[in-house]
Amino acid sequence: MSSTKTISIPLVGLLLFLCCWTSTAKAAAEKEYYVKYKDPKQPISARIKDLMGRMTLEEKIGQMIQLDRENMTAEIMRDYKIGSLLSAGGSVPRFKATALDWINMFNTFQNGSLSTRLGIPMIYGIDAVHGHNNVYKATIFPHNIGLGATRDKELVKKIGIATALEIRATGINYAFAPCIAVCRDPRWGRCYESYSEDPEIVSEMTDIIYGLQGDIPQNIPKGIPFVGGKDKVAACAKHFVGDGGTIKGIDENNTVIDWHGLLSIHMPAYYQSIIKGVSTIMVSYSSWNGKKMHANRNLVTGFLKKTLKFKGFVISDWQGIDKITYPVHSNYSYSVFAGVHAGIDMIMVPYNYTEFIDILTDHVNNKRIPMSRINDAVSRILRVKFSMGLFENPWADQTFVDKLGSQGHRDLAREAVRKSLVLLKNGKNADSPLLPLPKNTSKILVAGTHANNLGYQCGGWTMTWQGLSGNNHTAGTTILSAIAAAVDPNTEIVYSENPDSELVESNNFSYAIVAVGEHPYAEMYGDSQNLTIAEPGPNVINNVCGKVKCVVLIVSGRPLVIEPHVGSIDALVAAWLPGTEGHGVADVLFGDYGFTGKLPRTWFKTLDQLPMNVGDPHYDPLYPFGYGLSTNPIQSS
Ligand SMILES: *[C@@H]1O[C@H](CO)[C@@H](O)[C@H](O)[C@H]1NC(C)=O
Ligand SMILES: *[C@@H]1O[C@H](CO)[C@@H](O)[C@H](O)[C@H]1NC(C)=O
Ligand SMILES: *[C@@H]1O[C@H](CO)[C@@H](O)[C@H](O)[C@H]1NC(C)=O
Ligand SMILES: *[C@@H]1O[C@H](CO)[C@@H](O)[C@H](O)[C@H]1NC(C)=O
Ligand SMILES: *[C@@H]1O[C@H](CO)[C@@H](O)[C@H](O)[C@H]1NC(C)=O
Ligand SMILES: *[C@@H]1O[C@H](CO)[C@@H](O)[C@H](O)[C@H]1NC(C)=O
Ligand SMILES: *[C@@H]1O[C@H](CO)[C@@H](O)[C@H](O)[C@H]1NC(C)=O
Ligand SMILES: *[C@@H]1O[C@H](CO)[C@@H](O)[C@H](O)[C@H]1NC(C)=O
Ligand SMILES: *[C@@H]1O[C@H](CO)[C@@H](O)[C@H](O)[C@H]1NC(C)=O
Repeated sequence: MSSTKTISIPLVGLLLFLCCWTSTAKAAAEKEYYVKYKDPKQPISARIKDLMGRMTLEEKIGQMIQLDRENMTAEIMRDYKIGSLLSAGGSVPRFKATALDWINMFNTFQNGSLSTRLGIPMIYGIDAVHGHNNVYKATIFPHNIGLGATRDKELVKKIGIATALEIRATGINYAFAPCIAVCRDPRWGRCYESYSEDPEIVSEMTDIIYGLQGDIPQNIPKGIPFVGGKDKVAACAKHFVGDGGTIKGIDENNTVIDWHGLLSIHMPAYYQSIIKGVSTIMVSYSSWNGKKMHANRNLVTGFLKKTLKFKGFVISDWQGIDKITYPVHSNYSYSVFAGVHAGIDMIMVPYNYTEFIDILTDHVNNKRIPMSRINDAVSRILRVKFSMGLFENPWADQTFVDKLGSQGHRDLAREAVRKSLVLLKNGKNADSPLLPLPKNTSKILVAGTHANNLGYQCGGWTMTWQGLSGNNHTAGTTILSAIAAAVDPNTEIVYSENPDSELVESNNFSYAIVAVGEHPYAEMYGDSQNLTIAEPGPNVINNVCGKVKCVVLIVSGRPLVIEPHVGSIDALVAAWLPGTEGHGVADVLFGDYGFTGKLPRTWFKTLDQLPMNVGDPHYDPLYPFGYGLSTNPIQSS
């Protein structure tokens, strides 16, 4: 008995010793290997604090930089600790790049970022503003003006879900969308990027953020940036604030409005975006009452960050800080000071990183910009990166490759096209509606510049920045092909881009479908002071309508001068910029579905009425905001 006891004491001691030794060694080993910021079980704030504590000024400034992918290398990412990249409109790894090309490009750059001392992954942004529109064979959805016409926020959320998947199909994790501009003047070349002139509709459409980033779980407080996993992307509400309110719709110009007007028209969609967890907000090139937004500390830091409690990061627009001065980039030192001081966290430089690094470092070393401002910027950027699980899943993989341009997404886009079309006139009088059109008839005419042009029907921000003309730039269905697929095989289709009267008169057409509108454009180039139908569109209307029953589709980013033509037109449809799925147009023209779209904007009579928005005194539109006739679908057997 006693022997057992005597033996047992050293044994217990030995066990104790072993036990203590192992746990000490384990602790030591953990101390060596355990890195708090890399531990996903730690709360995000603890991870940020730990990582920030390890970072040098150089590493912090690197996080604040976003560069375009052009001429970028993994070595630059590594050596300058660059925190973010982007693809500008049309900035692609190669012509007709596949999803795999994009993934490989992404991983090459990410490898550079992960090879740095702290291994902070980069975030990659792209203008995916109506689907993943830079990418060959992606699904192109209607531009926002068309989505505003649907009034369907559930649909818009689904488009967000689909767009996130297509973006992730190429490995990318950040979209510069949604544009929540409230366009108050259609002369602005970005008016089609705006859901509506009505702040309430724009606010509702911010539900697309739930689609892009995911639904916010119960345990995450409202207003905290949230991205729900590998099938979601960080979103960006833009452009803060008043971008759609500039004088005469001049792009990047001055928005003259009082504080109450700014708050009631241009700000509501920002409250909504923040509540819905938007990760980032992009600053507007425009000025508010003469002050450049990129230098507006009261609004960016004071109102957006302090009052609205936005916790994600604020990003500049492309060379946005360069444009604080005139001429552009003429006093870059001042630009960097003013932009960072205003509260911009990430700067879309987008090329000359050494210049930016040198200048910002100098501002910090000379205390013109306090370290607290740098820490605020970097902690916000890291918060977004942690919240989206980027440290755990930094690499692009092939999980979603088959989602790019998938049939399911094309079907969704087709539904969006159907719901976006607004019927403005149907028949010379109410008793003789022209629509829906019969599918089975002897001979029909399809005419106009926009009937057989996929590039035109997609508009700007498609494959390239300003958009393209023609059918071979990506995959999709033109309006003409959709009509051909919809009508009965017995129906003969005559197609002419620019028919003369003779062609129209010498044929016995049952009816004509005319598609005319605007040529593609995007920011800077899209402003128009005349808002006319592009040539020879007016001529096509004159040669066709009046001679044969005609339905005219206006394919455009905004209301155009149409009043002089309305009398001769039998049926008139605002088709906006529908994107790749032309079948949606035929679905409604031929009555498989009814027309349901409502004008998201006021349709003016004459240019001298502009700007004119719903609620204005002396409101005298051709078609008021909210207008839109409906048709019943034909019951097919
Ligand atoms: C990228 O490199 C090419 C070839 O050297 C050059 O022509 C182009 O200007 C560069 N682009 C930028 C943005 O620096
Ligand atoms: C990452 O870079 C290293 C060397 O810089 C290279 O050996 C490795 O293959 C790269 N990995 C990827 C996925 O590009
Ligand atoms: C607005 O446009 C006018 C005319 O082009 C120009 O002179 C002015 O500088 C612009 N203002 C701003 C703030 O961009
Ligand atoms: C840049 O702007 C700052 C601040 O307005 C001014 O002090 C400085 O002289 C300017 N530099 C140049 C080269 O114009
Ligand atoms: C970047 O800016 C620096 C400083 O202004 C200038 O010397 C250099 O030429 C610029 N680099 C490029 C590629 O433009
Ligand atoms: C289409 O019309 C032709 C001629 O009237 C007729 O022979 C044919 O059966 C019709 N087709 C259908 C599917 O109704
Ligand atoms: C489209 O076709 C035109 C004319 O046939 C050709 O010049 C162009 O390179 C083609 N573009 C693409 C993207 O294939
Ligand atoms: C014209 O077409 C209609 C049917 O669309 C037919 O009834 C009529 O006979 C045709 N007239 C001529 C002159 O061919
Ligand atoms: C209307 O304005 C656009 C854009 O400024 C221009 O390209 C076009 O030529 C103008 N059209 C007419 C008929 O003046």
